[in-house]
Amino acid sequence: MIDQDFILKSYNSKVESGSVKWSSPSNIALVKYWGKRKNQIPENPSISFTLSNCKTITEVTYTKKKSTEFSFEVFFEGEKNEAFKPKIQTFFERIESYVPFLRDYHFNIETSNTFPHSSGIASSASGMSALALCLMSIEEDLGVDYADDYFNRKASFLARLGSGSACRSIEGELVVWGKNKSTESSDLFGVRFDGDIHSNFKDYQDAILLVDKGEKQVSSTLGHKLMYGHPFAKERFLQAHDNLDKLKDILSSGDLKEFIKIVESEALTLHAMMMTSMPYFILMKPNTLEIINRIWKFREENNSNICFTLDAGANVHVLFPKAEESKVYDFIKSELVAYCQNGHYICDSVGNGAKRL
Ligand code: DP6
Repeated sequence: MIDQDFILKSYNSKVESGSVKWSSPSNIALVKYWGKRKNQIPENPSISFTLSNCKTITEVTYTKKKSTEFSFEVFFEGEKNEAFKPKIQTFFERIESYVPFLRDYHFNIETSNTFPHSSGIASSASGMSALALCLMSIEEDLGVDYADDYFNRKASFLARLGSGSACRSIEGELVVWGKNKSTESSDLFGVRFDGDIHSNFKDYQDAILLVDKGEKQVSSTLGHKLMYGHPFAKERFLQAHDNLDKLKDILSSGDLKEFIKIVESEALTLHAMMMTSMPYFILMKPNTLEIINRIWKFREENNSNICFTLDAGANVHVLFPKAEESKVYDFIKSELVAYCQNGHYICDSVGNGAKRL
């Protein structure tokens, strides 16, 4: 499919008003997206687990208007929010050629997260995907009839233009984004991983340890730019292809030890890229390292399959099979909670994607 396939060509312009509501989850990348070209095209393929509990719930009410300007208000957790507006304005500008009705209506966007906003958890994936899905449902209200596949693809396509990783939040349980030779995929939208998934990876758990709940030290926009002219960029992009290729076999064979190697190496590579860019950053905190070392020790001593991954920040995602749930949570409570800000962590697991409410 190409960009043009997503342009809405005709719709019923007589519809006066309506309301749509979606819940869309966050996701956690196993092979990381870090580096992009123009128009939110990723430099390398990525794959993520869709999460279940960390979600954004967005309701969009639309009313016909006369002016041709974009017109919208944002309410976050019940309160009018000006801070989100510029991001949504940019999103609207990027997507308007694909959703031409954007200038015909005033939009009231009411949004909330199931996780605390100040948790340092990226809300752009769940937030942008929820908004993209609302716009798709409005398209349907305007008389456009879509097959499921196309609906999800266009929702993911629009979400990508809001925030790259958001395109991996529409479906579950594993989603691939970015052309590669190993799986069905596209640079324009995320697709469900089409390979076999061994039962070891069903219901995988993710405990998100909140080490630092502050504002992101490096915005993703700046972060991705650091890969331009990065001395190791070319090798890194090739490595992501290679890791996805290996992960495909691992997901089907159920080899947890090999899974751990890829996932932890990807997390550390992401941070290594930031440490070796210009300017350079260290996004891990002392407690991040403390947690990683304790996870390694626990794994060794208990023959466990616990492992970690990281986003572009200090928080640690602790990943483990469902079968180890109780012993890992005992370990988190007895040893790791001490390194979380205010003792906060979030229990999540792999989920099935967004839902219309
Ligand atoms: C480190 O999707 O937040 O989480 O496209 O600029 O919005 P933008 O970036 P964003 O980048 C996320 C990067 C990451 C890795 C990942 O999720 O694959």
